[in-house]
Amino acid sequence: MNKDLADIQINDLDSIDGSKLALKVNILSGEFTEWIKANASHIRRLVQQNGVILLRGLPIQGSRKLEKVLEMIFNKELLDYTYRSTPRTKMRGRIYTSSEYHPDETILLHNENAYSNKWPMNIAFFCIKKAEFGGTTPIADSRAVYDSIPIGVREEFEARNLLYVRNYGEIDLPWFEVFQTQSKTEVEAFCKKNHIQLEWKGKNGLRTKQINSACYFHPVTKEKLWFNQAHMFHTSSLREDVRKNLLNVVEYENLPRNVYYGDGSTIEDNIIHTIRNAYQENQISPGWTEGDLLLLDNMLYAHGRQPYKGSRKILTGMAGTMGIDNPELQLNENEVAK
Ligand SMILES: [Fe+2]
Repeated sequence: MNKDLADIQINDLDSIDGSKLALKVNILSGEFTEWIKANASHIRRLVQQNGVILLRGLPIQGSRKLEKVLEMIFNKELLDYTYRSTPRTKMRGRIYTSSEYHPDETILLHNENAYSNKWPMNIAFFCIKKAEFGGTTPIADSRAVYDSIPIGVREEFEARNLLYVRNYGEIDLPWFEVFQTQSKTEVEAFCKKNHIQLEWKGKNGLRTKQINSACYFHPVTKEKLWFNQAHMFHTSSLREDVRKNLLNVVEYENLPRNVYYGDGSTIEDNIIHTIRNAYQENQISPGWTEGDLLLLDNMLYAHGRQPYKGSRKILTGMAGTMGIDNPELQLNENEVAK
């Protein structure tokens, strides 16, 4: 069964939390290379149509092999992880460990690099080793998240845009890790090219500010998406004790990350709480099984991470660049598919 995916349609996928997305494949290790060559374009079609697919039972050993598989599926070279927001370790090729935040922490649902003006169009996660407890990678449909947010909040965000502020240094990732260079001149060139304001502070400090939209149209499906990281950058995403401790050490404007409306005014805690609830309401939680490959359209689906115990090894790779200079992201309302 499932030797050839040419005839597989979305309706043939198994449901998880009410959404069609999983497909078990039965492929022996020795047949896998031929199988992936024959089926890469069918898998790509399913990701494009559905926004997500979870292939189960893939005999992929090692990051080099995973890189090749993903490049065949996405039909593109994988991307380097630049302008970082989370610590990751680079494996071979352009495969990374998924976020190395402490196992106790929940990583909220988010679209990769949605705070930036460039982001990967696809992101993939492969399970080498599942955690003994927890550690799932929940996902949520960005169209459903948009629909779940009250109209008043959506209108405010769409009209006013978002100002993201980051202070790199002792508390957050240092600037040379975020920008993947030791050269201040290269950081300045990157920021200029990407319309990011920058301010060097002291010997090794840096503050950046950038304004981005809160919502975009998907360039292919033309559907409206909630696509920003306000709920990640806002100070209310910090635990109350952490927020207090941080503010004992640094001024409000020097917090590692913060977000405001585009005009610099404060976004109230209760608004962010509403947004967080919208993600929660639409969360789908496929548990990991070793050999699972989760493939996402990074605009149509957000991803996160549940806390876990024990060791866990999930690898990730990204492909295809999309950015705010693409006019299809900002359609007029009357051009939108209803
Ligand atoms: Fe992520």
